[in-house]
Amino acid sequence: MSRRLFTVGPVEVFPDTLASMNRAMIVHRGKEYQDLQHRVVEKIRKVLDIDSDVLLAPASASGFLEGCVRSAVETKMAGLSNGSFGDRWQQIGQENGKQVQRLNGEWGKALRAPHIAGKLERDVEAVTLVSNESSTGVLNPVGEIVNAIREQSDALVMVDGVTAVGAVDLKLRKLDLDALVFGSQKALALPPGLAVVCVSDRLMERAAKVKNRGYYLDLVQYKKMADKDLPLTTPPVSLMYGLDYQLDKILREGVQERYARHQRMADMVRGWASKRLGLYAEEGFRSNTITVIKLNGLDFKEFDRRLRQKGFEVSPGYGTVKDVTFRIGHMGDLSERDIQDLLDAMDETMEEMR
Ligand SMILES: Cc1ncc(COP(=O)(O)O)c(C=O)c1O
Repeated sequence: MSRRLFTVGPVEVFPDTLASMNRAMIVHRGKEYQDLQHRVVEKIRKVLDIDSDVLLAPASASGFLEGCVRSAVETKMAGLSNGSFGDRWQQIGQENGKQVQRLNGEWGKALRAPHIAGKLERDVEAVTLVSNESSTGVLNPVGEIVNAIREQSDALVMVDGVTAVGAVDLKLRKLDLDALVFGSQKALALPPGLAVVCVSDRLMERAAKVKNRGYYLDLVQYKKMADKDLPLTTPPVSLMYGLDYQLDKILREGVQERYARHQRMADMVRGWASKRLGLYAEEGFRSNTITVIKLNGLDFKEFDRRLRQKGFEVSPGYGTVKDVTFRIGHMGDLSERDIQDLLDAMDETMEEMR
């Protein structure tokens, strides 16, 4: 039986989107491909309301998390974390031989200005943070954090927007971030395999002076090619067709309406979870794409098995809260009708398991 995905990524990809990728292959060193990349980049700028450079790589989002660290940090970075994905960026720094100042907050709670104010070490070149922390279901207040960073430092601000971009209004024009990383398989509702980073001129100027940036994810080389609407290496052409299609879909729906739909879907799931089991993330900072629900004794393995039989898939917990939570992804092209179907199926399953 086929299953609908209410997962945290990859997410459900609709048949029209899959069909949009079913096109004859083209070679990426030619006008036809350049036109495609040009169109995609212009539409990303339109959807996100930014003017910055947009770089695309055949990788999962982590590829450009690493690309940012390798390309923009010579010696020292600071990593803010209140969950697994904040920790991951710190780890990427460490594994690439950078000194990492760790600024950690409590899991399930938002990172706030006092976590950062006056705490950044002087020689930090870049600060990494996660917008929507997928392990805890917390949407960090990026604007507040960015202000707290910029008040004390001229470090680059590099944001993991993996489960936020396309679903949440990050007000990017105002934030003027140095890097925003995301991937195809989350709120853009495409298959996995394409990483995107939007970069500032400031970051690119500093990157030009960084040594040992590597080859495959070197942002400086990417930008040189992107200026000619070209990829650095062979791109996932089918995914580029899919992205072109999805960006049109987003613009047709209306970006603000898409954000409002995500809000409504999140409200539905949160309403269900708070009555039945309990929410993990603190009120006021709950994600509009991922709800992390306390298991409160629910046998997730059995719950998941029964839900799958009914044609629905949700996600287990992640990181240190793996055994006490599970997660529902409500992002991409899903509708409130889809969410209602899931909530009904979960009610039925809980009733069966009583
Ligand atoms: C917030 C966040 N950051 C980073 C990643 C890693 O993305 P990828 O698996 O595309 O490398 C994920 C994946 O779930 C995520 O949710």
